[in-house]
Amino acid sequence: MPGIFPVWSHEEGIDQKQNRMPGLGRQSRKYLLAGFCLAISLFLTYLYSPAWQHRNGNDYIWGKTPGLGHSNNTTVGTADKITEPAFPPDYIYESEDQKNCERVYGGSYLTHIATHQHSYCDARSPGQIQCFEAPRLGTPWTSDWQKDPMCIARGVLYNPPSSASNLVTANTFTVQCDPRLPSQDVAGTPEQGNAFPPLDKMGIYWFETGIGTQFKEWDFDARKDNNCSKTVDDPSWILLARREQNRNIWHKLMEPWQAMLTMDALQMAINPETSKPWLGETDASSVQVVFEDDREEIYDDWWKMVTGNPPIRRSAIPPGTCFRNVILPLAGSSSPFWTALLESVYHETCRTQFLLDTFLRRVYKFLELTPRAPSDIHVDPTITIIERKDTRKFIDLDRWVEILRLKYRKSSINVVDFADLTLKEQVKLVQSTDVLVGHHGAAMTHVLFLPPEAAVVEIMPPFFEMRGFRSVARMRGLAHFSARCMWPEEWNATVNGVPLPEGWQPPQTKAGWQEAEWAYMTEENFVGYVEAAVRHQQNRRYDGI
Ligand SMILES: *[C@@H]1O[C@H](CO)[C@@H](O)[C@H](O)[C@H]1NC(C)=O
Ligand SMILES: *[C@@H]1O[C@H](CO)[C@@H](O)[C@H](O)[C@H]1NC(C)=O
Ligand SMILES: *[C@@H]1O[C@H](CO)[C@@H](O)[C@H](O)[C@H]1NC(C)=O
Ligand SMILES: *[C@@H]1O[C@H](CO)[C@@H](O)[C@H](O)[C@H]1NC(C)=O
Repeated sequence: MPGIFPVWSHEEGIDQKQNRMPGLGRQSRKYLLAGFCLAISLFLTYLYSPAWQHRNGNDYIWGKTPGLGHSNNTTVGTADKITEPAFPPDYIYESEDQKNCERVYGGSYLTHIATHQHSYCDARSPGQIQCFEAPRLGTPWTSDWQKDPMCIARGVLYNPPSSASNLVTANTFTVQCDPRLPSQDVAGTPEQGNAFPPLDKMGIYWFETGIGTQFKEWDFDARKDNNCSKTVDDPSWILLARREQNRNIWHKLMEPWQAMLTMDALQMAINPETSKPWLGETDASSVQVVFEDDREEIYDDWWKMVTGNPPIRRSAIPPGTCFRNVILPLAGSSSPFWTALLESVYHETCRTQFLLDTFLRRVYKFLELTPRAPSDIHVDPTITIIERKDTRKFIDLDRWVEILRLKYRKSSINVVDFADLTLKEQVKLVQSTDVLVGHHGAAMTHVLFLPPEAAVVEIMPPFFEMRGFRSVARMRGLAHFSARCMWPEEWNATVNGVPLPEGWQPPQTKAGWQEAEWAYMTEENFVGYVEAAVRHQQNRRYDGI
């Protein structure tokens, strides 16, 4: 074989004499090879196409496919019947890391939610609270909680206190719920790994979000005689979003993402009373997102991705409105992608892109952008350096960029402050980028939008026990280079020859990293990392480009 396929040979290049096929010029050999490969790949495509594996009952009928000119109704002798072949046992293996990976980043995340539900109210109650649990990565991948709740409340009366009082009152929302007798599954708190704690002990998430915070304004007392019940004649759905008060793009993206996953799981979960999904397809597209706050945030728009409809504010809802269906979504900070960011352990690279890919397809659709094609290789990689204007500024960026421009004259080199661009412009720029360079922080969110196989240089604070965006980058198939800044004293000693202060030791804390004005690095280190990433990208092309 190596004689016929010199291109596969490790030691010998295609042009070496002993590998030439007799009687053919170089060009024709190329075509022959190409033709051969095409034939093989067509055959493989056919072999693995779903049509080939068309299921007929429990049996596969190999090669016989309805709708392709074959009859459906072939007389199948026993000899033609092949049961799904089993793999030799050595193939049936999943490491603990792979299981963890699938559990929270694969389809299992949604199936787990869809199959873990708990009803809080007696079936005869006028109202209903049905909660679902989402899984979390267990220790040592993650820190605290093991489960995250999301709920559907039915028969919900909205009756806010008069605007004069700003107090958080316990009866802004009322659900008439006769609690089921406490059972084992409502014992324990979320911290103890119980997603179905008593209704007043639901988890509270970052920036005062999550169902635990939302339910502070809810009253679940049994009978209020308020005529608002789960059978109210109003089929509409709302999704009540309690949002984090910050401007960090990563935080802000996680919120609609978790809301989308909530909606997805509700379209899979079966309502035991109807034996149908909780959320039908038509219902899903008519869900109204309701922000509980009145803030204008620059990312408000992104919530359109959740249902296709623009969100409204809670303050716009007329008091006394009775909702048949209210969705209380997973909190933004419950995202498994947050866990990926905060983890501090070594593990096998998680490679499933099941949740990620769907999210990205939705983002591109929302932004009306076509993702860059895998064949769109830049011979001279485009380098984008994220410049920050207030904190964590690179100490000598102008000079470093000058060096890079001289080194990579044909490369397009962007130095940008993402704060100056709209989100669409940011994503567009990142899509055209091959090497993204920046300090750890919100802008690194853009590893989500880099083209597959791009490279990212993430510059970390001098002491940092987290792995930053590495896991997310690797999950996406990017090359991730993690560089470290220096302490000012180290930098001064290295660059300026200023002796280290007497008895100075590198601090073993990351405290204050967010506020640090400067990020100190040597030219050699910064340029060196960018160079490594550029070379990695050069490796993607082949000479035939
Ligand atoms: C194939 O099967 C389907 C459903 O079993 C049936 O509706 C259809 O008529 C069949 N087609 C032929 C060609 O027998
Ligand atoms: C197959 O064809 C026979 C008659 O030709 C018909 O009676 C039978 O219902 C068909 N079966 C299916 C599954 O289409
Ligand atoms: C509930 O509905 C009944 C009949 O429609 C009405 O008489 C009663 O006043 C309503 N009660 C409340 C609290 O709205
Ligand atoms: C470097 O050392 C000089 C001289 O001691 C000092 O003035 C300067 O502030 C130091 N720079 C940093 C970044 O520590």
